[in-house]
Amino acid sequence: MSNILQIISSPRGEASNSIKLSEAIIDRLKLNYPSAALHIKDLTNAPFPHLEEVHLNAFFTDVEKNTGEHREAIKHSNSAIEELNWADFVVIGAPMYNFGVSSTLKAWFDHITRAGITFKYTDKGPIGLLSGKKVFLAVTTGGIYSLGEEIKKDFLTPYLKFMLTFIGMNDITVCRAEGFALSETRDTALEKAIGSIKI
Ligand SMILES: Cc1cc2nc3c(=O)[nH]c(=O)nc-3n(C[C@H](O)[C@H](O)[C@H](O)COP(=O)(O)O)c2cc1C
Repeated sequence: MSNILQIISSPRGEASNSIKLSEAIIDRLKLNYPSAALHIKDLTNAPFPHLEEVHLNAFFTDVEKNTGEHREAIKHSNSAIEELNWADFVVIGAPMYNFGVSSTLKAWFDHITRAGITFKYTDKGPIGLLSGKKVFLAVTTGGIYSLGEEIKKDFLTPYLKFMLTFIGMNDITVCRAEGFALSETRDTALEKAIGSIKI
């Protein structure tokens, strides 16, 4: 049995290219793992809040000392981490917003990156604790950032790769559909990206 977790962060529903690319990746995974279970986490339906004082207090209080307020504040973080623990494959749809990650997806990272739970500090530096998973990033962009000088403007893909590795998910495949804002590439961008998926 293989468990697939799909993370949606585009609010564009059926028009979303990152969702379409994620679905194509999942279709390919299901060819290899026909009995795989799929859990879809749509971050746009139930957005994770910005970290507020109550979340920070809960994150940094020992579990046995948590108050009711802490437990309520930490509920969504705990369930997001449970979903990650359950998954063998994580497929993350990531549209580029203003050269970086959308605040929707950033908020999710803020709730899953927890000292002592998804990473820990050791004498040799931090170690990620979510090991043994394979991640696919379905990155979609209006411009093209995979070539030449433009690579430097992509703050999305390096951020995602760094954060995932930081919490232990270092087996990462990047699938890019790019050029949706350019007349020469917009009609073929998705098809080209789907054609290049390697599972
Ligand atoms: C608010 C916003 C900001 C964007 N910023 C950028 C950007 O900085 N660079 C870029 O290449 N595309 C940018 N885009 C274009 C999207 O990355 C592109 O349309 C992508 O396909 C959106 O993914 P989706 O179809 O899954 O929603 C932006 C789009 C929106 C809505």
